[in-house]
Amino acid sequence: MKKIRKAVLPVAGLGTRFLPATKALPKEMLTVVDKPIIQYVVDEAREAGIEHFIFVTGRNKTAIEDHFDVAVELYDTLSRRGKTEILERLQALQPEPGQTSYTRQQVPLGLGHAVWCARELVGDEPFALLLPDMIMQSEPGCMKEMVELYERTGGNVLAVEECDPSQTHKYGIVGRGKNAHSGFEITAMVEKPKPEDAPSNFYINGRYILQPEIFSLLEDQETGAGGEIQITDAMLRLHAKQPFFAHIYRGRTFDCGSPEGFIKANIALALQQESLKPQVLGFLKDFLDEEGLA
Ligand code: UTP
Repeated sequence: MKKIRKAVLPVAGLGTRFLPATKALPKEMLTVVDKPIIQYVVDEAREAGIEHFIFVTGRNKTAIEDHFDVAVELYDTLSRRGKTEILERLQALQPEPGQTSYTRQQVPLGLGHAVWCARELVGDEPFALLLPDMIMQSEPGCMKEMVELYERTGGNVLAVEECDPSQTHKYGIVGRGKNAHSGFEITAMVEKPKPEDAPSNFYINGRYILQPEIFSLLEDQETGAGGEIQITDAMLRLHAKQPFFAHIYRGRTFDCGSPEGFIKANIALALQQESLKPQVLGFLKDFLDEEGLA
């Protein structure tokens, strides 16, 4: 069985839900407390043993490359000023030389198309795919647990969570087969089914381990929902040939692709930092009182 060494991070979307903030700034660089969203996702992948990060970028995304690069002048200045703590933190977050690759999706034709753009960089090996606007908070991390499941089952692995059964029409829903380690074998995948047609209430939440055969399917994948090339459509075709397993993720998820999820992430992660908690909590209490919302 081939080890999962590479992760694909598709960051070429337009981020229209965050306009005007994302007119010149990538959505993935928006800050949750003191780190850009993408840093949380890269950290999750690194914890899972990923050695190579493949970013599928687009226009206006150079800030992501700069973020993961060595900032020589900044590091020198911090060092001269004796700011060793923050310097060490910056250096610890930094990938090693040669661990990152960038390719461009020239036109944002959909998530499936973005993944396909990484085919040459991934090559003939299974890989992790992480939606870079989803922050997953758990110990161990979601991708680490998925890799553990994959090492027992092989095949393809998707992380799933349970939604309210009345909300299945918002998600990609999977069918539940026999149990496997931290999850189960997937019997079906249905995109946004009505509650009465849904095979379960487990939805695909933005973390995947996929076999490289997905690329040849994406190559001729026709456009699907929203006029975009959808990864789910290609996974459905792959499912006809290869097994898929679900890892039941039990941590917290912040969908930072929407303003609501992004704000929740900022509040929750700020309240988890001892240095910020008293001030933020005090402010929230006062604000709710003043606005009559308590
Ligand atoms: P989203 O649909 O959530 O991102 O795709 P978006 O299109 O940027 O956001 P909105 O809907 O306009 O606000 C999930 C992830 O897939 C990437 C996005 O960057 C995002 O991180 N993506 C999406 C691509 O890389 N290319 C695409 O063509 C579409």
